[in-house]
Amino acid sequence: MTGAARIDTSAPHPARVYDWFLGGKDNYPVDEELGRRIMSVDGTARHIARTNRWFMQRVTRWLAGPGGVRQFLDVGTGIPTEPNLHQMAQGVAPECRVVYTDNDPVVLKHAEALLRSTPEGATDYVQADVREPGRILKEARQTLDLTRPVALSLVALTHFLGDEDDPHTLVEGLVDALPSGSYLVLSQLTADFDPEAVARGVELYRAGGVTLAPRSRAEIARFFEGLTPVEPGLVQLTDWHPELAVGESTDENAVISLYGAVARKP
Ligand SMILES: C[S@@+](CC[C@H](N)C(=O)[O-])C[C@H]1O[C@@H](n2cnc3c(N)ncnc32)[C@H](O)[C@@H]1O
Repeated sequence: MTGAARIDTSAPHPARVYDWFLGGKDNYPVDEELGRRIMSVDGTARHIARTNRWFMQRVTRWLAGPGGVRQFLDVGTGIPTEPNLHQMAQGVAPECRVVYTDNDPVVLKHAEALLRSTPEGATDYVQADVREPGRILKEARQTLDLTRPVALSLVALTHFLGDEDDPHTLVEGLVDALPSGSYLVLSQLTADFDPEAVARGVELYRAGGVTLAPRSRAEIARFFEGLTPVEPGLVQLTDWHPELAVGESTDENAVISLYGAVARKP
């Protein structure tokens, strides 16, 4: 495990606001305040956060099951929330190896929950920013064999990167470092379905000093260029293999403003 922690409690942070939405306790008043403001413009925001988490769980169940993947690189992991990705993957195949990465020191503080691997498998946590892909890959090599397929997951991460960060090039660089048979998993906020509510959310995050960059379906599809989509392709999160759901609920009022997909590197 690598990294150093300095926690800023004066401004909201994406991992901690998301933790508040998920009902976690690892957030500060400033995060709860932003969460409550967002709930006041969209009362379904907590359900949508859970929907994103369920997408990660369904995808991981599929990857470790029919997908046959045994290595995972999860960037933008978030504060541990059970079941975490390694618990899903190792629940299917105990030998799975998982490397987690996040840039928020609060995630590092709670990382021991991510390190409770099965004896057959392995987990590690790397404190790093997705904008330093070289360092992420270097550290990941200590746990993962990058000559064998890896599922790279960037779940609800890329909307925290503005266009000035060139997220498409960052994602392409990470995928380029992985061998044929690897997978890219990505979910990202869009304004395609409910532009007004999403615009209000963007403004609230901006007022809290956090970049939130919704993208259109075409822009999100570009992350998967050159890869072979796993059916059903790029869809609203609830439409990705709903038959794999375990313990999920629905909210008829929620507009799921996130697309997600899984695609395989040829
Ligand atoms: C909404 S949470 C998603 C957590 C988890 N992937 C999930 O879907 O349940 C987004 C996470 O991305 C992390 N993050 C945001 N910007 C990042 C960056 N530049 N580098 C690494 N992680 C980042 C945040 O700290 C946060 O933990």
